[in-house]
Amino acid sequence: MVDMSRIDFTGKTLLLTGSNGGIGRETAIQFRAAGANVVMGEHTVDLDHDFATTLDPTGEHVLSFHLEAGSSASNDAFVAAAVAKFGSIDFVVPAAGIYPEQAITEITNEQWDKVMSVNLDAVFYLIRACVPHMNEGGSIVNVASLAGHRGSNRHAHYAASKGGLLALTRSLTWEFGSKVRVNAVSPGIIDTTMTTDLIETRGESLLAQTPLGRFGQASEVASVIAFLCSPAASFVNGETIQINGGLYES
Ligand SMILES: NC(=O)c1ccc[n+]([C@@H]2O[C@H](COP(=O)([O-])OP(=O)(O)OC[C@H]3O[C@@H](n4cnc5c(N)ncnc54)[C@H](O)[C@@H]3O)[C@@H](O)[C@H]2O)c1
Repeated sequence: MVDMSRIDFTGKTLLLTGSNGGIGRETAIQFRAAGANVVMGEHTVDLDHDFATTLDPTGEHVLSFHLEAGSSASNDAFVAAAVAKFGSIDFVVPAAGIYPEQAITEITNEQWDKVMSVNLDAVFYLIRACVPHMNEGGSIVNVASLAGHRGSNRHAHYAASKGGLLALTRSLTWEFGSKVRVNAVSPGIIDTTMTTDLIETRGESLLAQTPLGRFGQASEVASVIAFLCSPAASFVNGETIQINGGLYES
């Protein structure tokens, strides 16, 4: 595990989605280890229960919420639950996402809308609901993707949604001004359930294009998210940090 001893988030509150996923879990672990309250939104909330207990057996610093990320009403309720328990919000990390593989001609309207809804609309719903409750000095970190920069074969909807997140991130810096910093991370190939099939089918060729010669770990994304929320990144705003081991070209 990454050493979080130099980051102190005591008394701060993180709002996190996709908290049962690879990157989400590691983010929850690292922020809690640094002292933060962690509010976790997932649609697989039953699986989340044991995880929440391992983060904080007392339940004092952790809240699990059944979130349907693509629903604005669900995001509103999620934020309301967080504010009811912890009063305000310091950090927002929307990490829920889906990555279906489909050629453009195979994508139905419904499938396109679903990807946009979970990967992009959800971030808008969540951040809009958070605005009135965010503390001065807060930080939002969107989870984009290498796909948002270079595109992704047979994942056009996914790449388009992540490209949208990059533009959303830069736009929001103007809206939040000096109150809240807004940044993004763009992971490359990180070893989570999302990439199991990809690694199986194209792993060797992707490794050959990665100077570090391995796939990333979810903890290596979470630690950059924590850095971006920390005072060490106090003048980093509107930036996207690529976390890809050097994999930039297709
Ligand atoms: N793994 C990678 O290589 C990689 C690369 C680039 C970007 N990302 C991004 O990182 C984020 C986390 O991905 P991960 O690798 O941890 O994947 P993951 O599949 O392990 O986690 C995604 C989580 O999102 C949750 N989720 C999906 N739809 C939801 C919905 N409608 N409502 C609520 N929760 C929902 C899932 O239940 C899951 O727990 C995603 O946004 C993904 O696009 C991942």
